Amino acid sequence: MTDPRITLHDKGLRMAIGEAAPYFNYFWLRDACDTCIDPQTRERVFDSSVLTHPPRAKAAWVEDDALRISWQDEAVISRVPMALLRDVATLGRAHDPAAIPRRLWYGDFMNRIARIPQTSILTTDEARARLCHALIEDGIAVVTQMEPTKDSLTRLVNALGPITPSAEGLFFDVRVEIAPTNLAFTAGPLEMHTDLPGEEAAPGVQFLHCLENTVEGGLSLFLDGAAVAEALRAEDPEAFRLLATYDIPFFYRHENWDYRAHQRVIETNTDGEVTGVTISQHLQDNLDLPQDLLDDYYPAFVKFIRLMQEDRFLIRFRSEAGNCVVFDNHRIVHGREGYVADSGKRHLRGCYTDRGALHSTYRVLARKGFEDMSERIRETG
Ligand SMILES: [Fe+2]
Repeated sequence: MTDPRITLHDKGLRMAIGEAAPYFNYFWLRDACDTCIDPQTRERVFDSSVLTHPPRAKAAWVEDDALRISWQDEAVISRVPMALLRDVATLGRAHDPAAIPRRLWYGDFMNRIARIPQTSILTTDEARARLCHALIEDGIAVVTQMEPTKDSLTRLVNALGPITPSAEGLFFDVRVEIAPTNLAFTAGPLEMHTDLPGEEAAPGVQFLHCLENTVEGGLSLFLDGAAVAEALRAEDPEAFRLLATYDIPFFYRHENWDYRAHQRVIETNTDGEVTGVTISQHLQDNLDLPQDLLDDYYPAFVKFIRLMQEDRFLIRFRSEAGNCVVFDNHRIVHGREGYVADSGKRHLRGCYTDRGALHSTYRVLARKGFEDMSERIRETG
């Protein structure tokens, strides 16, 4: 009964898919069977450890665009969708609509940032998907025409996910304070950084809603940390390796809190792609790597910081009241030029959600048909 395109082996089978004949392990196939997922809770209800013997196929064939397998020790006919097998054969994993390749950007990106009015995000799935897509692909977007109400920012964040609290609470206010807990709450320049690396899970997606800005100076600065990391990899692979390998310590300390955590300056995934960066010299603790390793680590670190200061990476703009900049706090490095404190008022309200929530929202929207909108975003953004 076995299909001639399929060959059965001791621990798995090979099947012809296009030009290739990928191999699939029997445990994996048994686990990938449709019946292993409860249709109501959508959770896995099969436990591989209950099998008395490792699964072994008796016969396998393709039917209704699915691989069907009968097993030697079980009276079960498994069904594994061909779409899943094709994805695993080509991508190594199931298709994920949120796995959008990052589009690295440079100093000329300002006019191409997605700009989307708040009302459309709150009222249409299409605009919400555009925002999610831009945040995954570019790591940054500007929400325009924010309602000037007290719950305006909350409503925007909740269109993507729940607010993630930090040491400051659910929200933080960036304005001059008499007893600041952070350099952000002064009128001084703010060096390029990602937020709160001293927290074990540093915030994922940051919102900065500009409520008021009439001061002289205080331009907002942003760059794509992944683009700078890739430039470092091209220019000095050993420096890149050091920053992508070793964790360094950060803190966030004040009267009532003392957060400490280790982070890697350049984050990579298992495919070796840059997924983000963590930089904050004002919240960096004394490095605790072996002292002789620091002979190489510090020059690599300094090289990366200097690269980030090059104009070719930087965009600079004035935060306008009514706009909210939303960005991936693990990828987009931000800062601010100093301003004249008594020249007017500058007040930004911020909060965070996490990257998992952003991806989850986009996957749900993709299921409704809003996937792969990159071309439309470029046209309308
Ligand atoms: Fe910040």
